[in-house]
Amino acid sequence: MPALDDATRGRLLFGGDYNPEQWPASVWDDDVRLMRAAGVNLVTVGVFAWAALQPDPGRFTFEWLDDVLDRLHAGGIGVALATPTASPPPWLGHRHPDTLPQGPDGVRRLYGSRNQYCPCAPAYRRAALVVTEALAARYARHPALRMWHIGNEYGTACHCEHCARRFRGWLARRHGDLDGLNAAWGTAVWSQRYGSWEEVLPPRRMQYIGNPTQELDYQRFVSDALLECFTAERDAVRAANPAVPVTTNFMDFYRHTDGWRWAAEEDFVSLDTYPDPNDPDAALRGAMSQDLMRSLGGGRPWLLMEQSPGAASWRPVATPKRPGLNRLWSMQAVARGADGVLHFQWRASRQGAERAHGAMVPHAGPDSRVFREICELGSSLAALDGVAGTSVRADVGIVLDWDSWRAVELPHQPLDGFSYVDRLTEYYAPLWRDNVTCDFVRAGADLSGYRLVLVPNLYQVTPAALRGLRSYADGGGTLVMGPFSGVADPEERVFTGGWPAGLMDLFGVRVEEHWPLAAALPVSGEFGDFAAAGFAEWASSRGAAVVATARGGPLDGRPMVLRHGRAWYVATLPSAPAMRRLLRRVCAEAGVRPVLPDLPPGVEAVRRGDRVFLLDHDSLAVSVVAAPH
Ligand code: GAL
Ligand code: ZN
Repeated sequence: MPALDDATRGRLLFGGDYNPEQWPASVWDDDVRLMRAAGVNLVTVGVFAWAALQPDPGRFTFEWLDDVLDRLHAGGIGVALATPTASPPPWLGHRHPDTLPQGPDGVRRLYGSRNQYCPCAPAYRRAALVVTEALAARYARHPALRMWHIGNEYGTACHCEHCARRFRGWLARRHGDLDGLNAAWGTAVWSQRYGSWEEVLPPRRMQYIGNPTQELDYQRFVSDALLECFTAERDAVRAANPAVPVTTNFMDFYRHTDGWRWAAEEDFVSLDTYPDPNDPDAALRGAMSQDLMRSLGGGRPWLLMEQSPGAASWRPVATPKRPGLNRLWSMQAVARGADGVLHFQWRASRQGAERAHGAMVPHAGPDSRVFREICELGSSLAALDGVAGTSVRADVGIVLDWDSWRAVELPHQPLDGFSYVDRLTEYYAPLWRDNVTCDFVRAGADLSGYRLVLVPNLYQVTPAALRGLRSYADGGGTLVMGPFSGVADPEERVFTGGWPAGLMDLFGVRVEEHWPLAAALPVSGEFGDFAAAGFAEWASSRGAAVVATARGGPLDGRPMVLRHGRAWYVATLPSAPAMRRLLRRVCAEAGVRPVLPDLPPGVEAVRRGDRVFLLDHDSLAVSVVAAPH
């Protein structure tokens, strides 16, 4: 199997999206010259070039791309060649209106923007394969080609008749027959029983609250339908040259595509990330996404495919990155396992929706602060010899379960706005601030390599997840679980008899009621007094020691933090300082240590291979030092 190594060849990658079709050929030579000056060694070409490559269904115009790839190759610059299938040309939608995606409201989204395709429309799938196969036939052995970039940021949902038809097939595979479907969806509620497959629909606009399992299954189905589009194109490019690695670009924590399933189909994982320079927690969020990418790829190096060198123009306040920030965040990605740092985009577009977006060569041209910083970044990355291919070790695993994520965010759960990513962040943030490195892990994985496993939420449980957690605990592992866990099965059927179902004995706790909080809940205990907010539970100890207790209000006296040997259960959402105190204690007991102790606040330390990266988020300074033994 090819891997990212085959593209890096031992050097960190550096570059960005290159859209030469937006420019006259006279600019192309200047591009290659400037890329060389900046130390660029990889550019992503063709992401949105479908119309330029196939101006009408019967005609390909590859000559310009031949020219561009040859010039890049002559300049020593490698290419991530994209299949252009994220943005079909108008002719596809015009000739085949059924390729245009339909919202839950039944209204078609038209061309004139991008991403306007139905993943299930046969005409879209055919056209996408035609252009992909043509590209593969022409370029699979081009010497500039380092990797294939399939599509772009998959995530478009559609609710049309094509989707309805495929959804029925997907449901039949999942639930067997109509009886299975009716049982799984609980259609006895509100007279929703289906008597024939033709009656079954995607969740479209309805009169009142929809069926939650229908919605959940549709989310799973959309992820799978998009994944079929990806794998079809992947197989086409692989068939032309199996040695070239294949990826597609993910977007941070993106619920709509199941990262575990998707990453398993790629040769390596890549990320598009646009932390907000105005967000005081941007570095934390960046680290978290980066750790997710490394984890999705099973610990192997990943690629930072897109970030902005300056502003992201889709933000309401599109503030550029201040001097030094792009370098700092780029180094953070490398520290957390990236084998390359690319940007959107190389040269700022003069026209179109993204004319105000940052670029490596901004509108001001190469005589600019931004381009000078890009050149400095290029040399800093080139100087990091021996980093590509090395790995990052974590002693802490945080369980990320895509189905629980989808399910807790369904409408009409006890708490609207119970954000799964917020739950993960509440556990991740204190460890990040203490320079403890974490992986994300899937429920049901082998957890035996971790000293500590955090389960901020596991709302849906499967037998495999239960087995995984129990065998980890039996092996002496330390576990911490957060509230609203062990509540429902994968069909969104609530467990009876108390929660967390299947784990009450392990944690020595039984939850009877979920208790969303309109006001802060005072809690006191071994970690001092703190305020919990948002969510709590009516829990009782079944053998666990009570570590913290609610004070006042209807939950007065109820346990909020409990421990049962090495298994901790947190029945609420403690304040950030309280989480930090709690997790420090748990880490100390589990033998989890920071990368370096006693660093000043604002300094992030990450160990990768035999180096430690020190990232100062206040001064924006970066240093890379030899790791202590
Ligand atoms: C990404 C996309 C790029 C560009 C960028 C702007 O979503 O893949 O093509 O649009 O955002 O921030
Ligand atoms: Zn559709």
